[in-house]
Amino acid sequence: KSCYRCPLSKSRTNVVFGEGNPRAKLMFVGEGPGFNEDRMGRPFVGRAGQLLDRMIEAIDLKRGEVYITNIVKCRPPNNRNPLESESDICIEFLRWQVKIIDPTIIVCLGAVAARNIIDENFKITKERGIWINRGKYHIIATYHPAALLRDESKKKEAWEDFKKIREKYNEV
Ligand code: URA
Repeated sequence: KSCYRCPLSKSRTNVVFGEGNPRAKLMFVGEGPGFNEDRMGRPFVGRAGQLLDRMIEAIDLKRGEVYITNIVKCRPPNNRNPLESESDICIEFLRWQVKIIDPTIIVCLGAVAARNIIDENFKITKERGIWINRGKYHIIATYHPAALLRDESKKKEAWEDFKKIREKYNEV
């Protein structure tokens, strides 16, 4: 809350740090807060968040069982993608969140998260739904729920990804 390391701090209403189970086995990482998240100081509380909640429940988990956060903790103006200069600074907080919460599974929601966490050239349409092992972490990317709201035809693939996430959750 006292971070002024990047210009997003000037336009934010609230820092959206993340929330959920501090011992979660599964962590979801989105892109950055939107309008509602900035107002509430909580991640994924708008329309995309409601869809994420339904998807979490569809695999028999509860929102409070997992941990939900974003690549950048302050809202980019007009919901633009975070700049590299912003995400490069802010990702230090995500590194600490991962160290402290120590999830086994990390789910990147959308290309921005996947490019920051998995590979800078990540192609979400081609590479989603594929497990990547990095040390003790099992990492996968799927479509951002906002993309599913824009294009319903992606929901089938997203559901396949969520079933894989549930299978892994049972295994680890
Ligand atoms: N979109 C995101 O990427 N993160 C949020 O917290 C809300 C919407």
